[in-house]
Amino acid sequence: MSPRGALTLFTVLALLSGCDDMTVQPKAGAWSPEATLVTPPQDTVAWGDAALKPPPLTLALLQRGQQRFRIDCTPCHSELGDGNGMVVQRGFPAPPSYHIDRLRQAPTQHFYDVMTDGYGAMYSFAGRVSPPDRWAIAAYIRALQLSQHPPATAVQTSR
Ligand code: HEC
Repeated sequence: MSPRGALTLFTVLALLSGCDDMTVQPKAGAWSPEATLVTPPQDTVAWGDAALKPPPLTLALLQRGQQRFRIDCTPCHSELGDGNGMVVQRGFPAPPSYHIDRLRQAPTQHFYDVMTDGYGAMYSFAGRVSPPDRWAIAAYIRALQLSQHPPATAVQTSR
């Protein structure tokens, strides 16, 4: 074999040695139709789902609601719920005050639904606030409303 022939044979053999059956390479986490059927976490509520039932009203529920409200809602609604939060002071559309008649008369379920579905310019909190926490926050909004419209009997100072 001429040196040139030997070189050609060597090159062909070298190229062929790179050819193995790539279809049988094992892969971690290979795609399968079953793998795409993701089960959502238990307390996930999709847009438009029926609301979970409200839990019993307790002090612990209100305290949880206050804590979550301060994290998720005060940036726009303010600690007082008057709709003048820091983000609004920086230019975000102002929400209505929780203390207007319409929202004082709205069922507690409405607050839950607004968190689930969003409302106008307000985006949904379904992915951020779990259903039990939505009830806790809704209960706390009720407490906030009461704080701004206490019944006269609640503010008697002397007897
Ligand atoms: C980024 C700002 C922002 C945050 C954060 C926010 N909201 Fe709102 N919210 C709005 C705006 C703006 C509106 C008014 C939307 C409209 O009428 O178009 C609104 C409206 C509302 C209303 C009144 C709906 C009605 O019937 O008029 C409720 C109740 C409410 N939000 C609850 C909440 C709760 C509870 C949270 C916290 C989980 C929250 N919001 C967080 C901006 C926000």
